[in-house]
Amino acid sequence: MSKAPRACVIGWPVEHSRSPAIHGYWLRQYGIDGAYEKEAVRPEDLAAFLSDLPANGYVGANVTLPHKEAALHAARSADVAAKAIGAANTLWLDANGSLQASNTDAYGFMTNLDEGAPKWRETCGVAMVLGAGGAARAILHGLIEAGVPRILLTNRTVAKAETLARDFGAPIEVIPWETKDSALSACGLLVNTTSLGMTGQPPLDIMVGALPAAAVVTDIVYVPLETPLLAAARARRLTAVDGLGMLLHQAVPGFDRWFGVRPEVTPALRDHVVTTLGAA
Ligand code: ATR
Repeated sequence: MSKAPRACVIGWPVEHSRSPAIHGYWLRQYGIDGAYEKEAVRPEDLAAFLSDLPANGYVGANVTLPHKEAALHAARSADVAAKAIGAANTLWLDANGSLQASNTDAYGFMTNLDEGAPKWRETCGVAMVLGAGGAARAILHGLIEAGVPRILLTNRTVAKAETLARDFGAPIEVIPWETKDSALSACGLLVNTTSLGMTGQPPLDIMVGALPAAAVVTDIVYVPLETPLLAAARARRLTAVDGLGMLLHQAVPGFDRWFGVRPEVTPALRDHVVTTLGAA
């Protein structure tokens, strides 16, 4: 077997994953003799696949839907972020061959926000987060760790938002989905974690004009790159941060662990991944 390190993304389905485009680009850019594969693994086969990871020549993996929670439970140990979020997206084998788990989605989101809106911390005050799925969990963890003192959380299905508020505690206040517009005037940061605005989905119906002039708007949807929400924010001269950077930055820690180089998120990487989005 080749000694070149190999990693993979595990999903079901996995075909849509952009991770091979990102890691493949970095492997070429840094001239690393390694590989990054796609592995379509059925939920019932995940535990066996992870046990066989070293036997299959893998040093680690990314994990995507629907395996993120199960991957956390399969790992021998997990970092603070993965435990708080309740899901893992990055796995690696330590020196003893035992499986370690991390969740780098909060890191990816925060790094993208810091890069796209460097002053967001000065103007944030209250943040509003739309949605209560897996992505919202990661983003709430990131915002709370960053010290955001008050987060208004709203979701079509209120019970899911209430579960998150219970899990994460004090800074989160759940507001009804129908009342979100009236709370916007107090918010310095608006985050869309729902699928609304994605190609093929209805647009997000929200009064961006009610936000303060210094507000920052960010969307985790990146197909299209410029969602109707971001376009509306830019039309009002608000700072708008697209979701692609979160995807790119969340990949950095995994590549570093598996291949021993801390890779850079550059405009050229971004352009490369954008060219793959047309096939979405
Ligand atoms: P992810 O793990 O990527 O966050 P998810 O768990 O499917 O994905 O969550 C999708 C989010 O988009 C949820 O908050 C969902 O709201 P519900 O919890 O009520 O399902 C939200 N969403 C999807 N379609 C929506 C719609 N038409 N209107 C409002 N919210 C919607």
